[in-house]
Amino acid sequence: MSRLSPAVRKALLTLHLVTSLGWLGADLVLLTLGVAGLRGADPAVVYPTAGLVVTYLFAPLSVVVWLVGVASSLLTPWGLLRWRWVLVKFVLTTVLLGLVLLLLTPRIRQLGELGAAASTHYRVDLVVAPAISSTLLLVATVLSTYKPWGRLRPATPARRRPVAVAPRS
Ligand code: HEM
Repeated sequence: MSRLSPAVRKALLTLHLVTSLGWLGADLVLLTLGVAGLRGADPAVVYPTAGLVVTYLFAPLSVVVWLVGVASSLLTPWGLLRWRWVLVKFVLTTVLLGLVLLLLTPRIRQLGELGAAASTHYRVDLVVAPAISSTLLLVATVLSTYKPWGRLRPATPARRRPVAVAPRS
């Protein structure tokens, strides 16, 4: 059962949408910078910019998205372990958070410091990593809207499918 009033739940959903889709947007910005770098844009501009985007937007957002996503599950009738689409999204976002904080952020910061001195190997990283993560975030978005695969366990009368956004208020 939801522990939140309809107004607070809508505010939480709004925060979840703004942060998670903002995360996807920041990821696409990184991908754009990576492609621009490989296509000959000034590396002394492109890579330090990517370093700033990762440090001040992408990495902090990844933590906020995880926290708000978990709150959106635990504080609403969806729960974290009741519906397959929620669980898959949780696992996917958790893996992505680990990769972002442990691999992608240090790597792109380094690329930002190297600027024009960055090797092709480093430059390709700024295309491959955001291409993979953007695809996974797109998958998370589609899972959220289509909500496939049903429940993990059969519903008890008190735990029926939560009502979708529109009829809530
Ligand atoms: C820890 C990870 C996440 C969890 C546990 C989670 C969980 C949830 C839950 C429970 C809802 C329903 C909220 C409600 O009805 O009040 C929801 C909605 C939604 N989530 Fe997530 N989420 C996570 C990450 C993401 C990510 C990474 C994205 C996309 C990049 C995303 C996109 C969406 C969208 C678009 C909706 C709205 C679906 C609708 O209202 O029909 N979520 N999420």
